[in-house]
Amino acid sequence: MKAKITARKGNVISKIDDRIYGSFIEHLGRAVYGGIYEPTHPTADDKGFRKDVMELVKQLKVPVVRYPGGNFVSGYNWEDGIGDKSRRPRKMELAWSSVETNEVGIDEFQEWTKRAGASVMMAVNLGTRGPDEARNLVEYCNSETDTYYANLRRENGFEKPFGIKLWCLGNEMDGPWQICSKTPEEYGRTAYETAKVMKMVDPSIELVVCGSSGMGMPLWGEWERTVLRHTYDHVEYLSLHSYYNNFANDTPLFLAQSLNMDKFIKKTIAFCDEIKAEKRSNKTIYLSFDEWNVWFHSGEKDQKVKRWSVAPPLLEDEYTFEDALLVGCLLITLLKNADRVKIACLAQLVNVIAPIMTETGGAAWAQTIFYPFLHASTHGRGTALTTACECGTYSAGDLQAVPYVETIATLSEDENSLTVFAVNRSLCEACTLDLRLEGFEDYHAVSHTALECDDLKAINTAENPYAVSPIEKPLGDEIVLAPKSWNVIVFEKN
Ligand code: AHR
Repeated sequence: MKAKITARKGNVISKIDDRIYGSFIEHLGRAVYGGIYEPTHPTADDKGFRKDVMELVKQLKVPVVRYPGGNFVSGYNWEDGIGDKSRRPRKMELAWSSVETNEVGIDEFQEWTKRAGASVMMAVNLGTRGPDEARNLVEYCNSETDTYYANLRRENGFEKPFGIKLWCLGNEMDGPWQICSKTPEEYGRTAYETAKVMKMVDPSIELVVCGSSGMGMPLWGEWERTVLRHTYDHVEYLSLHSYYNNFANDTPLFLAQSLNMDKFIKKTIAFCDEIKAEKRSNKTIYLSFDEWNVWFHSGEKDQKVKRWSVAPPLLEDEYTFEDALLVGCLLITLLKNADRVKIACLAQLVNVIAPIMTETGGAAWAQTIFYPFLHASTHGRGTALTTACECGTYSAGDLQAVPYVETIATLSEDENSLTVFAVNRSLCEACTLDLRLEGFEDYHAVSHTALECDDLKAINTAENPYAVSPIEKPLGDEIVLAPKSWNVIVFEKN
């Protein structure tokens, strides 16, 4: 099989916003306790953060981490997680039927993100709470005034504001599972009033308003339009969430799911622009794909977890090699839409549907999906180039013309390196690339890294952490993508 890939210097989709490589830590399962934080762990630092986990997180170079939820945030009182730890309340956490000890809150999490080289993307509770608690939290985090919440932060040991720039107005407020979910009208009004008071406290913040929790939601479209009619002038981003599964155990169909992500993005852009036209606005709403991943492996195990325990093992998906291939396709899809998708968060970061797994008290290791994310975050910065790919196609389910090769080229900011990312979806045929990199005649290939594996269901475990890990391919006259493979080909200027 052959694929002709054409990219031209100057023919750009957009500058890539670094925040497209964001991630997410929710107070859920062992993401926080036993994940990023475990004071009794042999690698714990002076604040109780696991250094082995921190090391892996740093490799991923996540610029922004969404926190503290997720469904969790809709029942959360942020005041429970600040100040003297010995006085923090243990609470019934209703979203995941767990006990929240509040040992970690925003005081600790902002410190953790600093150490990880990232910044916080903070969500406010628009479920059980509303504008008042949200504006108080903005004051606590960002204000330098001599006023109650800013002074409370100082009393808790933080003279300088945390300076959190990016805020989410609640989480998945359309979902019936959400604590105090809302109709589009109810949410639109609340989000509008909350946005106003949050920006009165700190006009420099950026806001993400909730879109539908998925393309399959009954109000998808109507929700976006109604919510944006209320909030258009007060927010910068609209959120999208989507998780993919292979319950059908149909790999070609599963690997084609990035086409659904693309459709979700394109339609959501259309909803945003419809309201832009309706309002005769010059402002463009950008997208925050702030939950995306594969999620389906852990369902049965989750049913057996004891209710009302602290940090139970929930949503601990063990990712297979084929999951990594889809994650590669999804990353390419986000890059292809870099003109409108400015923020994206791989959900989540540690233990909970995550690229990094740990044993409480034991090892930390990279799951299969860690690698495509690592490669894209490392090499996929700068500019996304319009990349045409002529190759064979197949049909899967109701998806027609699924290209065997999913690809995009990116050019680094200094223009010294050009990277071609490519997934070969074919399960049996290798693919030889006919690469037409126009305007890049003075560049030469310096590496071809690939993720290949005979076993689509192979996983990494504590005992065998490198079962699925990248290999360096020899560079020859031709670049060949192995059947079922993720590939990163880097070119440098001579
Ligand atoms: O990421 C896991 C959960 O998925 C989040 O809490 C919620 O927002 C979504 O439904």
